Amino acid sequence: MHIEVIHEDLSEVEAEALLLALFADEPPAEEVAALDARLEGALSALLAGGDFHGKKNEVAVFYPQGKIAPRRLILVGLGKRDRCSAEVVRQAAGVAAKKARALGATRLAAPPFACGVVAADAAVQATVEGVILGLYRFWELKTEPKPTPDVESLTLIAGQEAHLPMARQWARIGQVMAESTNLARDLVNRPANIATPSHLAEVAAQIAAETGMAVRVLDEAEMEALGMRALLSVAHGSAEPARFIILEHNGGRDDLPTVVLVGKGITFDSGGISLKQSQGMERMKGDMGGAAAVLGATRALALLDVPLHLVCLVPATENMPGGRATKPGDVVKALNGLTIEIINTDAEGRLILADALAYAERFHPDAIFDAATLTGACVVALGHHAAGVMGDEDLIARLRKAGERSGERVWPLPLFEEYGEQIKSDVADVKNVGGRPAGAITAGFFLSKFVPKGVPWVHVDIAGLFLLDRERPYSPKGGTGFGVRLFAEALRRWKGAS
Ligand code: BES
Ligand code: ZN
Ligand code: ZN
Repeated sequence: MHIEVIHEDLSEVEAEALLLALFADEPPAEEVAALDARLEGALSALLAGGDFHGKKNEVAVFYPQGKIAPRRLILVGLGKRDRCSAEVVRQAAGVAAKKARALGATRLAAPPFACGVVAADAAVQATVEGVILGLYRFWELKTEPKPTPDVESLTLIAGQEAHLPMARQWARIGQVMAESTNLARDLVNRPANIATPSHLAEVAAQIAAETGMAVRVLDEAEMEALGMRALLSVAHGSAEPARFIILEHNGGRDDLPTVVLVGKGITFDSGGISLKQSQGMERMKGDMGGAAAVLGATRALALLDVPLHLVCLVPATENMPGGRATKPGDVVKALNGLTIEIINTDAEGRLILADALAYAERFHPDAIFDAATLTGACVVALGHHAAGVMGDEDLIARLRKAGERSGERVWPLPLFEEYGEQIKSDVADVKNVGGRPAGAITAGFFLSKFVPKGVPWVHVDIAGLFLLDRERPYSPKGGTGFGVRLFAEALRRWKGAS
């Protein structure tokens, strides 16, 4: 979508739809009041008539009939002024943009929503994000045409000429964040016969070409030579070759802090020999949601040219029950030398992450983040409104702040030493399952055994968030791209925040 930022009187804006946000139960803001005057009070009549209250995400359409330049006004509610936030803005922008598209509008305009209540920069960013995220649809596998055309452009109307440079900068940040999220959504929505490990490697190569990053992809022979036996034990049951993807932004810049992002890239999780039940198994095409999140965040951070040495690692494989598949009871040695007894082949995410976390050591990182659709237990604990986070308290604090800004919230779970008892093996150093109690935590505890010593690390379990069965204000059903904006917001401010 083409985004531009201009300074113009709202009544002069040539657009098929002008999106306007209003607070609940209060008279319209100054610029909307000016429009109302041009419309001879028709807007205030609509409010007084009780057809629109400004409740959160409420919409109304108004036709100015040539009295002003925009063809339609799409009014959207922000709810109460004192409860407004960037997330409220993002949702309202998504709802308004969807309404405009449903009416066939392709050229949209809007002033940044709730500016003055939400900080001006965040208001611009959130408005752009809401529009681009809200308009996402996954259409590449349908042969029927889209029911309404794609929106071509969004013109943001800055309140003052002097605000233009700032508004343009933040509109670009919003656009990069949202488009990177939509890339991650595409990856989750694509079925496993298309989004294979090799496909993830191709997308990583495209991201590298687009951003100027370095990319390297290891094949199975190279993984074998390194000793990534935990990852390879998952790949054994599949005919689809595994890949290990390495993207690097500012590689070789010793003066910058090094941050490693690791994403679980199981392109299909059948469970392996510990086969899952067939009901709902199709959702496991999205078991690379962690990989999608870190690839999207890395793209965003590289395009925004953050001053970090950023490394993105994606272990990618299918988990299938083939004739050479790993069997319950098998023992493998991971890259860091620890031996693992594989009790349940469906707990495969922690196996591929074990080798990826150990591999991170060679970059001497200042911090490691991992994202994974790791456990059903995390969905039981937190449902579909927050991801579970475990590990370093400072990194958790950063993610909690970034979550508040991005609307992608996280919530901490403890990694007390005592949980380690549950993953002790009789025959190996550790086993890959810890029984029913605290399943999300014992998975996190398992991962901690493979994190390079002394490196701050945080694990984000996104099992409840990567794919949703219901539409949300700026996310259709299906892949959400959860984690892209969370990580990008956290790392964009690496130096300033704590
Ligand atoms: N990919 C699944 C976890 C998952 C479940 C993600 C539901 C998204 C939605 C993971 O590989 C898995 O199967 N975990 C098992 C672990 C168990 C065997 C210890 C689980 O959660 O049941
Ligand atoms: Zn599994
Ligand atoms: Zn899995």
